[in-house]
Amino acid sequence: MSKSDIQPWPKDVLGLRGMNKSTMTRILDTAVQFRTVSKRAVKKVPTLRGRTVIMAFFENSTRTKLSFEVAAKRLSADVISFSASTSSSKKGETLLDTAKNLSAMSPDAMVLRHSQTGAPHLLAKHFDWSVINAGDGINEHPSQGLLDILTMRDHLGDLTGKHIGIVGDIQHSRVARSNIFGLQTMGARVSIAGPGTMCPKHYESLGVQVVHSIDDLLDSVDAIMMLRVQRERLGIAMLPSVEEYASLYGLNVERLRKCQSHCLVMHPGPINHGVEMMPDVLDDPRSVVMEQVANGIAIRMAILHLALSGQKGG
Ligand code: CP
Repeated sequence: MSKSDIQPWPKDVLGLRGMNKSTMTRILDTAVQFRTVSKRAVKKVPTLRGRTVIMAFFENSTRTKLSFEVAAKRLSADVISFSASTSSSKKGETLLDTAKNLSAMSPDAMVLRHSQTGAPHLLAKHFDWSVINAGDGINEHPSQGLLDILTMRDHLGDLTGKHIGIVGDIQHSRVARSNIFGLQTMGARVSIAGPGTMCPKHYESLGVQVVHSIDDLLDSVDAIMMLRVQRERLGIAMLPSVEEYASLYGLNVERLRKCQSHCLVMHPGPINHGVEMMPDVLDDPRSVVMEQVANGIAIRMAILHLALSGQKGG
């Protein structure tokens, strides 16, 4: 990688669409360095001492919110948690007004999860501090895409030419979109499978192969990522019965037997057990679901460190 391949470091991390391979590789390599911090007795480095990071989650989260918090604290940042459910947004305050008020408290970064596509992009345009997209509607979830790619790179090495299958509710999945953009940039081939209503043919325009049966993918994929059926975003007509979905698209032991011996089993969480993934699949040695969670901390440390270094004077 030459210096000229690296884009000037941006203050915001909004998505993997358009992020080049050098930039993505730099985040992954920085995460690998930060991974050692979590293995020490004292899990802290002074990188972001004196900097303030706001966690603003307007949608529920366990993994992303907590691991961004852990990441910021391991970098010695001061962390303020904003919970939409107990805030004045419940009284009708707009996102922009909320952000203006939080901006008056001189933060250095905001990690934002919001149901509206483009919400982080809006704030990034208005403010000097860094905006990190922790999931915007059905658009992107870049830190999840990066932690998934790091987990795959750990096991599969260079992802060039590797075949990755993503199965389930692609249409409503920001995880799928960030993985599709990121994996293609890293040279992987992506195939998606799911019911026609959740996995539309027009996704081929993103350069992926669309198949409608999980069984078409099993013997050729190097990793298979199962997605949660997002009942909160689904029209009722989109989902056959849960039993039918599980039998047609769920990953079970019989299907896993048809996968290659090195094929990684992945899921971003939270899992609908017995729907997209059967409980015994999670116990298979090929399952890396908890490694994904652990890598989330290192990736988020790298994102916070690099984004804040991209600010004026950072
Ligand atoms: N993978 C993921 O985004 O999980 P949370 O919704 O719990 O953050």
